[in-house]
Amino acid sequence: MKLVVVIPTYNERDNIVPLLDALRGSVEEVSGYEVSYLVVDDNSPDGTQDLVGQYRKKHSDVFLLSGKKEGLGKALLRGVSHAIDDMDAEIILQLDADLSHDPAVVPQFLDKLTDGADFVVGSRYIPGGSIPDNWGIHRKIQSVVGNTIVRFGLGILHVHDWTGGYRAYRKEIFELVRHELGRYRGYVFQIAFLHKALLRGVKVAEVPIHFTDRRFGRSKIIPSEYIRNVLLYVFFSQRQSPRARRIVKFLLVGSVGFVINTIVLELMVFFGLHPALGSAIGAEGAIISNFLLNNSWTFRERKIEQKRRFLKFLQFNGTSLGAIALQAGIVYAGTNVYGVEKYRIFYILGVLTSLSWNYIMYSRVIWKR
Ligand code: GDD
Ligand code: MN
Repeated sequence: MKLVVVIPTYNERDNIVPLLDALRGSVEEVSGYEVSYLVVDDNSPDGTQDLVGQYRKKHSDVFLLSGKKEGLGKALLRGVSHAIDDMDAEIILQLDADLSHDPAVVPQFLDKLTDGADFVVGSRYIPGGSIPDNWGIHRKIQSVVGNTIVRFGLGILHVHDWTGGYRAYRKEIFELVRHELGRYRGYVFQIAFLHKALLRGVKVAEVPIHFTDRRFGRSKIIPSEYIRNVLLYVFFSQRQSPRARRIVKFLLVGSVGFVINTIVLELMVFFGLHPALGSAIGAEGAIISNFLLNNSWTFRERKIEQKRRFLKFLQFNGTSLGAIALQAGIVYAGTNVYGVEKYRIFYILGVLTSLSWNYIMYSRVIWKR
């Protein structure tokens, strides 16, 4: 079997040689593979390519692919394509160059492939895996929360680490989805690749890994950009679980209702009405918008037929009455106890309560299957 280890680098001068040495040591333990190493460097200004060039003089199994800097995703796409098209790779192993991914576990990745997996993912969030102890609590929470959002947002729970870059897979897996990956230029590539492969039913296995902080050089990730891209991916991902999609739509429709509700409330209070009454009238405005938008969008595959629509709208008003009562009741009780000028807090509490009530009523009563 021909194995190509793909290593993306940007300014990894102090890491690349130790990494290549360690990789060669650990891969030698596994028999049955013909191994090459492909460093995919984006013209790093720190001289990474010179070091790889010198290393190549002594080790003919090391190769260098250079290009201009367009992001990690683009580099991986280019590197893995080259490994398959020009180096006859049958198996790809990819990992970070900064020694955060321990080369000693390479044999475990290959074992999983031998056992029949198509795609092996290094996972920090399964027993035996870990994120660095020395990370502050904020960073740990960010990492765990980020992965959880992706996991649940995409509705695929049996894979636990979506964002990491330590992976091994058969070339067929990459060939299945490579035409869909061109627009994921940055780190979000890792999520998109795994997700699209899973949607095609590939068999995934996980290997626990300990992620350690890099000792040399700097991380190239731009957190704000990365977070935005991840959220956008999860949000716009075409084939999320139908329920996740429905909940997102319900919340969007609810937000439109919320805006309508708020504007009406503020107008009513401005004209001297009691906030409890104002929020009830606002809620009625939101009801109309909610009914129309949910019927034509959120629940469109259960759309109410024309001739029953009016009766259903009355019923919708009925269940929404529960929501209005909940919301107004909370505003009324809250303002009674804490003073009428605190109405906004109770308005928000009321909205949250009636949101939960509404989703249950919509999916089980109004648009029940
Ligand atoms: N060729 C190329 N071009 N390589 C790049 C580029 C690029 O534009 N950007 C980053 N790399 C390389 C780095 O040189 C390193 O080998 C690897 O990609 C990971 O980059 P880091 O800069 O070390 O990222 P990190 O450690 O902060 O990112 C961690 O979190 C990401 C998101 O969760 C790692 O765990 C990543 O694997 C993970 O995707
Ligand atoms: Mn890193």
